[in-house]
Amino acid sequence: LIGSVAGAQVRDMPGGPKVNQLNLHEGVTAISRDIMWLHWMLLTICIVIFIGVFGVMFYSIWAHRKSRGHKAATFHEHLGVEVAWTVIPFIIVIAMALPATKTVVAMKDTSSADVTVKVTGYQWKWGYEYLDGPAAGIKFLSTLSTPRAQIENREPKGEFYLMEVDNHLVVPVNKKVRIVLTAADVIHSWMIPDFGVKQDAIPGFLRDTWFNADKPGIYRGQCAELCGKDHAFMPIVVEVLAQADYDKWVEDQKKKMAANADDPNKEWTEAELVARGEKVFAANCVACHQANGKGIPGSFPPLDGDKVVLGPKAEQINTVLKGKPGTAMAPFGGQLNDVEIAAVISYTRHAWSNAGKGQDPTVL
Ligand code: CUA
Repeated sequence: LIGSVAGAQVRDMPGGPKVNQLNLHEGVTAISRDIMWLHWMLLTICIVIFIGVFGVMFYSIWAHRKSRGHKAATFHEHLGVEVAWTVIPFIIVIAMALPATKTVVAMKDTSSADVTVKVTGYQWKWGYEYLDGPAAGIKFLSTLSTPRAQIENREPKGEFYLMEVDNHLVVPVNKKVRIVLTAADVIHSWMIPDFGVKQDAIPGFLRDTWFNADKPGIYRGQCAELCGKDHAFMPIVVEVLAQADYDKWVEDQKKKMAANADDPNKEWTEAELVARGEKVFAANCVACHQANGKGIPGSFPPLDGDKVVLGPKAEQINTVLKGKPGTAMAPFGGQLNDVEIAAVISYTRHAWSNAGKGQDPTVL
């Protein structure tokens, strides 16, 4: 069910709200509260039926036992009993199905949203793109802040670890937010238990879901569809802000984007491209490829030894665009624009050349 153990765990952090990990929690949307109510309603009906059926059965076995002189009845049929055990369960099933159907229909109603965000699942990160309103055009990737190896080697081991991301989704409070989901590689699933939201992100398809959070705060979820080796390391973080704070965030993001935007008519010099590439590298590649040799061992460019030889430029471009099957190298085609790809390749070849590897430093 939607209220997963993962969701309960992150809320049960020291200093955080206490929740019973065996149960769902109520969340901050009408849908999540409906789900909670349905859960209790269905559970209650099941318990009443269980006690009723087994109560009658055990009472009959005990009260009508042979030693009391009772004999088994031998009647062939009983219309009244047959009608009762058909009609009563039918009424119970309808009583359970009606409110459940109402909630499912409400969950699917993504019409008249205030904010629409396209969410793309990647191995292993999330991409967010605001599609409408004042935030239209804001676009970023949400990646694990700490490399997996560091999380796994942390001390003390075994303690719960709250995974943070570099950029998280930000939405306004009390507004209907429509999430349009797809994926670039394999199936992922976007789940926030506090919103009562879980929707698969499927390559080649657009699926949507929505939420309307009524309490500002930070809400957490987790990719909920097994998507490869780092499936457990693509957390989802959503911050719900008061409208004024959200407007301010949108403004700041727009300013930041304008400051970083590339002029499409610009003639790039090698030095400019290398400088731009260093930033692209810092934002996308360093988690694995750290210049000091940390990150994933043996990854390009360690720059401090003879571990890896940089391949031909065409092969390097292909690797950046398509990733490297069988390794952790993910495809960046569609995530980086042409300038960014040219810049990051120029930067890495330049850095490699400076490290005395004698490679061709010629830029694209
Ligand atoms: Cu993405 Cu599991």
